[in-house]
This record gives sequence, C-alpha cells and structure tokens, in this order.
Amino acid sequence: MIAATNNPGKLREIREILGGGIISLSEAGIVSEPVEDGLTLRDNAYIKAKAAFRNVPVIADDSGLFIAALDGAPGVNSARFDVPGKRRGKVLKLLEGVTERAAYFETVICYFDGVNTEFFTGRLDGVIAHENRGEFGFGYDSIFEVDGLTLAEIPDKNKISHRKKALEKLKEYLEKL
Ligand code: IMP
Repeated sequence: MIAATNNPGKLREIREILGGGIISLSEAGIVSEPVEDGLTLRDNAYIKAKAAFRNVPVIADDSGLFIAALDGAPGVNSARFDVPGKRRGKVLKLLEGVTERAAYFETVICYFDGVNTEFFTGRLDGVIAHENRGEFGFGYDSIFEVDGLTLAEIPDKNKISHRKKALEKLKEYLEKL
C-alpha cells in the first residue's frame, strides 16, 4: 500500500501501526503535489489519495487544529495559517486575554483502491496553552495541552494522537478487507 506522503514522522507512525508493506511516494517514484483546495480535511485527504493512485491501494491523510474561540480556525488551513515558524505565535496572539481555550486536533485518512473509498477520523481534545512549552513534536504541538502538558512535553505523544486513533480504525478496516 502507498502512503501518499514523504513526511518521515508520519511514515514512522503509519508503519508503527500498520506494520510493513507501506511505501512512501518517493519510494514508489511518484511525484504528487495536488492543490489542497478542499473545504474540509475529508476533501483534502481524498484529493491527495486520488492524485497518488497508480493502481495500487493508497492512503492519504489531512490534519488540522480547530480552536473554538476562533470559530474553528486554523482548521483545514492549519498548514497555511501563516509562514512556517510564525503559526504558533499567531495563535497565541489571537488568544491573548481569552479564557475559553478549548481546541482539538483532527485527522482524516482516506483509503482508495480504485473501487473502495473509505474515510477514518481521529480526534484529540485539549486546550491552547498560554505559551510555547516542550521540545518534542512539530507544528502546533508546543501550544496544545492535554492534562496540563503540551504535546511537545510528551515524548510518546503518538500513543494518544489524533493520527493514531484514525490509523487504528484504518487498521481494523484493512484486517476485514
Ligand atoms: P497535515 O495536513 O496533516 O500535514 O497537517 C496540516 C498542519 O496541521 C501541519 O502543517 C501542522 O502544522 C498541523 N498539524 C497536524 N497534525 C499535527 C500534530 O500532531 N501536531 C501539531 N501540529 C499538527
């Protein structure tokens, strides 16, 4: 099965949960960089899966951080919310003085094999911290708290992550296929 990504962190997590037999885009010799202009994570996961399909089953995921006080932003635009390195600071600034800090990460994985199209969702609830904390992880991890610790302060965040929850559902589906 092809995983429509070249992100090493994602590949590691996918292989940890699904086991062997996962080939990345570059390993498969596929260049696929579709425009992710869907309105939802589901749309974008589907766009990525279809674009990478070469008659071999493929999975693609799209994720985002949804903040209640910002009406769900950055959401589907999490990767494009600001230039790299400025996204977390922008969130903290927008939430200055805001006490309602509930947020969640969500991942949608699309499986496509030319016949079947299936979607699997995972969600992790938390709150936006008041400052960056922690060294692990990536993206918004250092400002997203679960039970008082940011995801960047939890070395084995992948055990509780939104992506892990979606991958577990995909695994169950693949075992029955
Ligand atoms: P992607 O579409 O799955 O690559 O994720 C879109 C954006 O959401 C990424 O650029 C990250 O900034 C953010 N993101 C997704 N998952 C996570 C996570 O587990 N931790 C922190 N940020 C994440």
